[in-house]
Order: sequence, then C-alpha cells, then structure tokens
Amino acid sequence: MKTALITGISGQDGYYLAHLLSGKGYEVHGVSRTPALVRDLEFVHLHGANLTDRNRLLELVEEVRPDEIYNLGAQSHVGSSFDQAEYTGDVDGLGVIRLLDSLRAAGLADRTRFYQASSSELYGLVQEVPQSESTPFHPRSPYGVAKLYAYWTVVTYREAYGIHASNGILFNHESPRRPTTFVTRKISQAAARISLGLQDKVSLGNLNARRDWGHAREYVEAMWRMLQHPAPDDYVVATGTQFSIRDFVAEAFRAVGIELEWEGEDVHEVGRDSKTGIVRVDVDPAFFRIADVENIVGDATKAKLNLNWEPKFTLKDIVCEMVESDLKLAESESLLMRSES
Ligand code: NAP
Ligand code: GDD
Repeated sequence: MKTALITGISGQDGYYLAHLLSGKGYEVHGVSRTPALVRDLEFVHLHGANLTDRNRLLELVEEVRPDEIYNLGAQSHVGSSFDQAEYTGDVDGLGVIRLLDSLRAAGLADRTRFYQASSSELYGLVQEVPQSESTPFHPRSPYGVAKLYAYWTVVTYREAYGIHASNGILFNHESPRRPTTFVTRKISQAAARISLGLQDKVSLGNLNARRDWGHAREYVEAMWRMLQHPAPDDYVVATGTQFSIRDFVAEAFRAVGIELEWEGEDVHEVGRDSKTGIVRVDVDPAFFRIADVENIVGDATKAKLNLNWEPKFTLKDIVCEMVESDLKLAESESLLMRSES
C-alpha cells in the first residue's frame, strides 16, 4: 500500500484527490491548519500544520514517510494576494522550499515523489495563445509571482538533488466544492438563489476576462499520473477551450431557466431577464483587480502524449453540475426560512 501526504486537504482539489487516491488503495494523510474543521474525509489521517512552519513540516514528513507528496496548500485567491503579498509569498513560495528541504532532511529525496500545484497564473500577461510548457511566464499578481518562485524551486531541486518533483501547470478547474470567493461558484450560487427568490441580483467585476475551465475531478487524475510517470517533468493541464465570465454567467442562468440580455458597457453593463426585464447581473468595480489576467487558454498536448490524460467535461457539464448542487443547497435554505417564519 502506498502512502500519500496531501497539503491543502480541506480545499477543492484536496477533496477530489483524497477520494481518487483512496480508491486506488492509498493510505491518505492530509494537512490542514485546522484539521478539526475538515469535513467529508473520514478516511483521511488528518494532521495540523502550516506551510510557514518548517519544524512542523519536517516532523510530519518524518512521521508519515510518504511515497508521494501533493503540495496543494496555498493562499490561492489571486485578488486577495494583492492585500496579502508577503504572506502569499511565504506560504505559496517559501512553503515549497520548506517541504522539499524536509524531504531531504528526512533522507527521502530519492524515494518520495513530489507534486507541486503550479498555475496558469504563471502566464499572466500572456506571451502567446494558447499557452504551453514552452510559453514564457509573465505573472500579474503576488500570487502569480509566488507560484513562479515555487515553480523554479521544483525545477531546481529536481536538477540539483535528483528529486522526482513535477509541476502541474493547471488551468482553472471548478466543481461544487469551489468556495464562493471564486467567480464560478459565486455565479452558480447566485443563479440558484435568484431562481428561488432568495436573492435579487449578483454583482461581479471584470466580465470580459476569459478562462479555460475544466472539472477538478479530472484534473486531480492528471496530478496522480505525473507522479506515476518514470521521469518527473512539468505539464500544462487544460481543456484548450476558452469562455468569458459573461459566457459562464449566461450558461448558469440558462441552467435555471433564465435567458439573460446584456446591455450597457463597462461598469454600466447589466444582464436582464429577457422575460421580465429585471436586472439580475450588474458590475461593481469593487470586484475589479489591480491587474487582471485576461486571456488564458492552455495547450495540454504534452499531458495527452506522455500521461494519456485528456479532459471530457464541457463547460456546460461543469455549470450544470455546479448549479444543480447549489439548487439543492438553496432549496434547504428556503425550507429552513419557511419553517422559521
Ligand atoms: P483551495 O480550495 O483554496 O485550497 C487550498 C488549501 O490550502 C486551503 O483549503 C487551506 O486549508 C490550505 N492553506 C491555506 N493556507 C495555508 C497555509 N499557510 N498552510 C497550510 N495550508 C494552507 O485551493 P484549490 O482550488 O483546491 O487548489 C489547490 C492548489 O492548486 C492551490 O495551491 C492553488 O493555488 C492551485 N491551483 C488551483 C487552481 C484551480 O483552478 N483550482 C488552478 C491552478 C492552481 P486549511 O485552511 O485547512 O489549512
Ligand atoms: N473572484 C471573483 N469574484 N472574480 C471575478 C469576479 C468576482 O466577483 N468578477 C469577475 N471576476 C474575474 C476575475 O477578475 C478573474 O479575471 C476571473 O473572474 C476569475 O477569477 P477567480 O474565479 O477568482 O479565479 P482566478 O482565475 O483569478 O484564479 C483561480 O485560478 C487560478 C488558475 O488560473 C484560482 O483557483 C487560482 O488559485 C488558480 O491558480
């Protein structure tokens, strides 16, 4: 039986990866800053640790002696990284050095395989379209810069110490487990609540940004495949399709039976219910970023060739699954409100 250690176990990807590995017979250990709050992962051995705490990470690596480490833990919100730049660098950048040095100090450098959650945010102000492993990086946020430091740390430790360490350059991936601080879940939750009369409208930021959205369930499979390959390497993981935030909004409202009509521009743009004329979407500059990433779309040919990995979920599949899940939550909320009144 193989043993895996997953940092960021309480996050979206931690959930899907833990289920994937457990299904493959792994003993799964997970790291959270607050393990007592981790839900729906009863089969995981939970440990408390912070990626800022070198001594604790070493203790943990020595105790678990994992065959594989998946470093998913991060301050992962790009917008928040502008307000917490130093902290984001500490966790997302230096955290990787701490983990890799723990591996070395525990004498596991030639045994334990390491996955780093790199990001399409490395491409930021994109230098070519689509983005592949050879596209030059140009991050646009403290988050992107921290992930760039982490990316090169992985490459350096692989080349210097021979560690089987790989970067998964994952493009946006979503699911019902996405927190509502990210735009897709904010939208799916709003569409569900609006359709049940629990909310009037949703205010968003940049509707023009374009993303390459996949499903988290499929993306964790790519992580695992990277560590099963005999040679460590860096891989883009993406669908190769691109949609705007506005497209995502339209699809989510369509899933609850509302067709939107768009009018106005920039901060004056609104989305109206085409039947009732009621404004369901507007723009609030409070959600604009100081610098945004506008045009992300990945070329995952290398992952297909070397890892035999290919995504199947379409944007519509993802939106429908997220809205359906949020409709269930909104229905419970609605029932609770009615029983209380
Ligand atoms: P997520 O839902 O935000 O989960 C990240 C987890 O990291 C949190 O649940 C948090 O758990 C943990 N964490 C935060 N600060 C920490 C710290 N100081 N020390 C230890 N753990 C800390 O992120 P995700 O969407 O699952 O993404 C997983 C990883 O992939 C992240 O590194 C993210 O940056 C990267 N990534 C994500 C995407 C995407 O589209 N989802 C794309 C590319 C890359 P606790 O609060 O329990 O500690
Ligand atoms: N969060 C948020 N909230 N974003 C909004 C909103 C809003 O109300 N309105 C518009 N947006 C735009 C953002 O400006 C951005 O261009 C886009 O929606 C996506 O924002 P997020 O969903 O927050 O995701 P992200 O692309 O910035 O970052 C996610 O994907 C990265 C991979 O490219 C995160 O998961 C990162 O951790 C990950 O690395």
